[in-house]
Amino acid sequence: MSSQDIPEENLPAEQEHAHGAVSVADEKNPFADPGLPPHEHRIQDIDERAAKRSERVVALLFTVSMLATVGFIASYLAIPHDKSIFVFPIGHISALNFALGLTLGAALFCIGAGAVHWARTLMSDVEMADERHAIEAPPELKAKVMADFRQGAEESGLGRRKLIRNTMFGALTLMPLSAVFLLGGLGPAPKSKLRHTMWAKGKRLVNMNTNQPLRPEDVMVGSLTFAKPDGLEETNEDFQNEIAKAALMIVRLQPGNIKDKRELDWSHEGIVAFSKICTHVGCPISLYEQQTHHVLCPCHQSTFDLSDGARVIFGPAGHALPQLRIGVDSDGYLQALGDFEEPVGPAFWERG
Ligand code: FES
Repeated sequence: MSSQDIPEENLPAEQEHAHGAVSVADEKNPFADPGLPPHEHRIQDIDERAAKRSERVVALLFTVSMLATVGFIASYLAIPHDKSIFVFPIGHISALNFALGLTLGAALFCIGAGAVHWARTLMSDVEMADERHAIEAPPELKAKVMADFRQGAEESGLGRRKLIRNTMFGALTLMPLSAVFLLGGLGPAPKSKLRHTMWAKGKRLVNMNTNQPLRPEDVMVGSLTFAKPDGLEETNEDFQNEIAKAALMIVRLQPGNIKDKRELDWSHEGIVAFSKICTHVGCPISLYEQQTHHVLCPCHQSTFDLSDGARVIFGPAGHALPQLRIGVDSDGYLQALGDFEEPVGPAFWERG
C-alpha cells in the first residue's frame, strides 16, 4: 500500500518541507532545482497495527541481544578452554572461542539490526533540506539545533515507545559486560612479581654451564661466569620467566681496582655479581673486556664499567646494571645476601 492509495484525511500532516521544483532556470542559474520528490508514506505511518508490529520486531532484536550477551558470559564461565568441537566446514575448533564469537556476534548484530529497523520503520523519514551556513553558530542556530534535537527525540518515539526504549537500554547496558569478562581471560595480574627475582638471602650461585654451585676459587681473575639461582632448572615450568630476571654475570676484580664503594662492600674478595640483563631493552650481555673491566651489550653496544658500579659509559642504556650483594655460606659456596635492590632490565619498571 502506498500513500497514493490512502484517503487524504488518513495521511499524517505534511511537515514544512519543500517538495517538487523549488526554482526555475534563468540566466544566472541555467539548471532548475528539481527539489525533492513527493514524499511516500510508509505502512507504519498510516497503520498503527503495522507500527506495533515493527515495534515488537525491534524489541525482539534487542531482547535477543540481551540473551546473547548472557550466553556469552555463561559460555565464558562454563566451557573449558581446552574443549574442541567439530564445526562444518571449518573443522575442529575451540568450543569456547566458537561460543564466544557466536554470542558476541549475535549480541552486536541484534543491537545494530534493531536500531536500523527502528530507524527505517518507525522514526520519521520525512526528507529534509537545509541551507549551508557559516561555521560559527549564531545563538539562533543553536536554539534551532536544540529544537531539532527535541523534535528528533520526539519523532523517534523514545519517550512514547517504552518497550523499545527499555529493551534498548537493557541491551546497551549488558553489552559492555562482555568486555569485563574478556579482561579476565588475560590471566592473573602480575602484582609485584615483575619487581622481584628468585634471588634471596642464602640462595647459592650456580654456574649456568656446569650446573654446579660456585665457590670463590672457581672464579678466576679475567674470566666471565654466568650464574643462576640454586633450584632453578630448565625443566621448571617458569624457567624462562625466572632466568630472564635472575641471570647473573660474575667477575673477579682486584679489590684495589674497584672504584665504587658500594660495589666493593657488596662483593666477596673482589668477586662481583651484576645482572646480565641490559638496562636498555633487556638483551643478555655477554662480551667482557678483562683489561678495561667493560662489558658490552651486543644489541645496541651499551657499555658498562664493572669496576665502577657497572655505570654506563657508552650507548643508549639509561642506568647502571643492578648489583647483587653476595657472600659465602658456611660450606664455602657463593650465596646471595638478598634480592636485587632495584628492578632488573629496562628502566620501565622503575616508573611503575
Ligand atoms: S639492549 Fe643492550 S644496548 Fe640495547
